[in-house]
Amino acid sequence: MLTATALPWLAAVPAVAQTAPITIKFSHVVTAEAPKGKAADYFKRLAEERTGGRVKVEVYPNSQLYKDKEEMEAVQLGAVQMLAPAFGKFGPLGVREFEIFDLPYLFDSMEQARKITQGPIGASLLRKLEPKGILGLAFWDNSFKQMTANTPLHMPEDYKGLKMRIQSSKVIEAQMRQLGVLPQMMAFSELYQALQTGVVDGQENPFSNIYTQKMHEVQKHMTITNHGYHGYVVIVNKPFWEKLPPDIRTTLEGAMKETTAYFTKLAQEEDQQALEAIRKSGLMTIHTPSLEEKAALRTALLPVHEQMKSRYGAELLDQINKEIGRTVQQ
Ligand code: LMR
Repeated sequence: MLTATALPWLAAVPAVAQTAPITIKFSHVVTAEAPKGKAADYFKRLAEERTGGRVKVEVYPNSQLYKDKEEMEAVQLGAVQMLAPAFGKFGPLGVREFEIFDLPYLFDSMEQARKITQGPIGASLLRKLEPKGILGLAFWDNSFKQMTANTPLHMPEDYKGLKMRIQSSKVIEAQMRQLGVLPQMMAFSELYQALQTGVVDGQENPFSNIYTQKMHEVQKHMTITNHGYHGYVVIVNKPFWEKLPPDIRTTLEGAMKETTAYFTKLAQEEDQQALEAIRKSGLMTIHTPSLEEKAALRTALLPVHEQMKSRYGAELLDQINKEIGRTVQQ
């Protein structure tokens, strides 16, 4: 019998020819504990299990590989294959329509948001990414943003003159200017330190990001404004995705569909848990606005819908309003 001892070179030959797994690098900017981080890990598990190891998903949280702007470039170049950026990150890519989701008070509930992103309007928006060498696989609907600062934010006047960090979205910039804020565009990975050192006075994000980034340690006040919808688009490098063996691609698409359902449930739960955890920490004063305060902020911010129409197109806004049954002019 031939053995590796008899013929030493045999030992170096693998018993079965192994093909290297297809690697998907999934880069993101939040912590592994934030809803997006958990969903990325969930997708990894499903993808690896269901392809029997033919696909390996490497998840890089916390801007470990790339910051917001760089990760967009990296996915186009194929240096990473998958991302899930927030809507406010798509402007610099030249796809401005996603900024419509940054409009203050676009949706009154997450059900309304999901009706748009998970329906035909969402599908047509995803197609706008293709000329950029990117495919949109899914929308992950997170939750609503809240305002934080070191001074109380009750009425629109309270925002005047504050420096607030924004994502790279012209619509968010317009929203902040409407309040007399000096918007400072900055990568998410730089935000904590900017708040800590006073480079900026405040910011906006959902509870889950505020908590997992420990912003409650460096911000004294949070107002539950729910003024803006916050969600993600899961995107992949188009040539990479199209070259996948068809059975693998179908399996991954199935895994993404399930991950999206998982994300929807998780995001809702985690947002409320994060609010409770922030409350429990006792580090932040949490303000629930009165009806009068809510109305004042809304009135101050609604002109942005009209002002920024050239950014995303009046027609798209009309379509969304029609779809969610908003007939009265705001
Ligand atoms: C931010 O940059 O403020 C957030 O959108 C980060 C994220 O991905 O949730």
